Amino acid sequence: MHLNSLYLHYPFCRHLCNYCDFYKNVPKNDDEVTKFEALLGQMIVRQKSLMSELGYQWGDLETIYIGGGTPSLWGRRGAGYIRNFLLNEKVSITSNCEFTLEVNPGSWTSEGLEDWKKSGVNRFSLGIQSLDSRFIKLLDRVHNIDDVYATLEKFKEMDANFSVDFMLGLPQSETLNRDVIKELETILTYNPSHISLYILTTKDHYVHQSTIPSDEWIEKEYLAVSEYLQKNGFEHYEVSNFAKKGMASKHNLRYWQMKSVGALGPSATGYLSEKNYRYKWKVSTADFVPEVLEKKDVVLETLYMNLRISDGLSLTFFNDKEKDEQLAVIAESWINRGLGEIRGRRIILNSRGFLILDFLMDEIFSKINF
Ligand SMILES: C[S@@+](CC[C@H](N)C(=O)[O-])C[C@H]1O[C@@H](n2cnc3c(N)ncnc32)[C@H](O)[C@@H]1O
Ligand code: SF4
Repeated sequence: MHLNSLYLHYPFCRHLCNYCDFYKNVPKNDDEVTKFEALLGQMIVRQKSLMSELGYQWGDLETIYIGGGTPSLWGRRGAGYIRNFLLNEKVSITSNCEFTLEVNPGSWTSEGLEDWKKSGVNRFSLGIQSLDSRFIKLLDRVHNIDDVYATLEKFKEMDANFSVDFMLGLPQSETLNRDVIKELETILTYNPSHISLYILTTKDHYVHQSTIPSDEWIEKEYLAVSEYLQKNGFEHYEVSNFAKKGMASKHNLRYWQMKSVGALGPSATGYLSEKNYRYKWKVSTADFVPEVLEKKDVVLETLYMNLRISDGLSLTFFNDKEKDEQLAVIAESWINRGLGEIRGRRIILNSRGFLILDFLMDEIFSKINF
């Protein structure tokens, strides 16, 4: 079996945003990056032996995603590291491989970006979050609005294919109101091919907890943004993701389609689908926590993932007359409630359905006996 996708986690940022729960650190000096690269080297060896134990080998890579943290900070050094990895491991990338690098405003250099391009990067994912300087500040981001525009201009100059991370549900008050549509209007003038929405999730002690808007308010914001993006040529192809035609993230679709993705780097998670085998790397040793999913869990996860994307869920998903009939009844009630449609014998949720997906899953659990 061949493994054709790779996620790599780069765990460093210039500054730690106070709402972020991802694994990351601010490196004290270059030695920390050297240590990380050495750890990565050990993980590469361990990953290869895991793959051979389970009957896998690297195939030509069809998707690569370097996420973080802030991997654009890895710069020319990172681009070189990846080239060496591919060379040493004798791994090729396909001619139409989707190779994404996450970029933060104010955390890149022109030389770095150009070098990443030489290493095969053909898609950037830019963490804008908000285009309003008041909210950039409120979000405790280290960059300012000029850094955002400088990055957008750089992408324009490079004629780059890029996605934008954009946050919803930000704290609001009488004196601090956000106009998300106006922000998106400006972002779209730079022609991104893809937008990912993130609804801010926080812990109780979050500094702006008292001004986080209500669930109803956030739902309205999400639906307004979804409507706006669809009117402007984006397909709402996954709960939180929008893409121009043909520009959906191939890498992320592999997760939602429960396909295999190899992973490297602290806290990165990989999945070897034919073996129902998930593994999560520890943060400071080249060791991981393995998990073999039970058949029942794979079925549940697949069902949930199918509903998350606009390919939708087959009405014969269960391959069992009684259960599929129950599913058809549920699907019809969703359509009557304006939450989706049937196309090609599949139930496909719309934005309103995506919004309440967890509730719809509960409905399936309560009506179908697994
Ligand atoms: C791990 S970050 C990496 C991207 C990049 N470092 C950045 O900050 O733009 C990926 C995305 O997760 C989202 N994120 C991080 N913490 C979040 C939170 N508490 N709630 C919602 N989204 C969050 C941000 O939108 C971010 O773009
Ligand atoms: S820059 Fe991104 S990864 Fe780093 S702390 Fe901020 S949100 Fe998290």
